[in-house]
Amino acid sequence: MKELTHTCHYKLCSYDELSEQERQLIDAAKRATEGSYAPYSHFCVGAAALLSDGKIVTGNNQENAAYPSGICAERTTLFYANAAYPDKTVAALAIAAYTNGDFTPTPIAPCGACRQVMLEVENRYKHPIRTLLYGTKGIILIEGGATELLPLRFDASSLE
Ligand code: THU
Repeated sequence: MKELTHTCHYKLCSYDELSEQERQLIDAAKRATEGSYAPYSHFCVGAAALLSDGKIVTGNNQENAAYPSGICAERTTLFYANAAYPDKTVAALAIAAYTNGDFTPTPIAPCGACRQVMLEVENRYKHPIRTLLYGTKGIILIEGGATELLPLRFDASSLE
């Protein structure tokens, strides 16, 4: 038996260490929490996607009384980006979460379903999604996107 290990490469940084464009993306994700519809969890998540032409599109979580019918901020944002701008690569994605009167001190990471959708988008545009997870105590930057977040992946190649 062989034992193998996967590693996830990411950086911990402060807001000031980011580029102007990355700061704008984080700010957009934070603002996007204001449009969240989260009457059940009171956990308001915002996401902002940077497209290849520099445009930023945003989305947030939209909950439902039938809980599984709701959707996360990341998928709202990526599906909207791909629906409205199918010819634009998603270059980066920022995520922020607001609850109990403040943004979370520790960044939240995308759920499994959102990682899977990120992977599909990365494969579609052949480009990793630089992912920025915002927390008031620090920001996580995952340059490799879903490839880092999903070490053992199911994608189109698995169907061949
Ligand atoms: N949520 C997101 O929108 N993104 C995440 O990365 C994690 C969770 C939403 C789903 C649900 O509306 C609420 O946060 C609580 O789970």
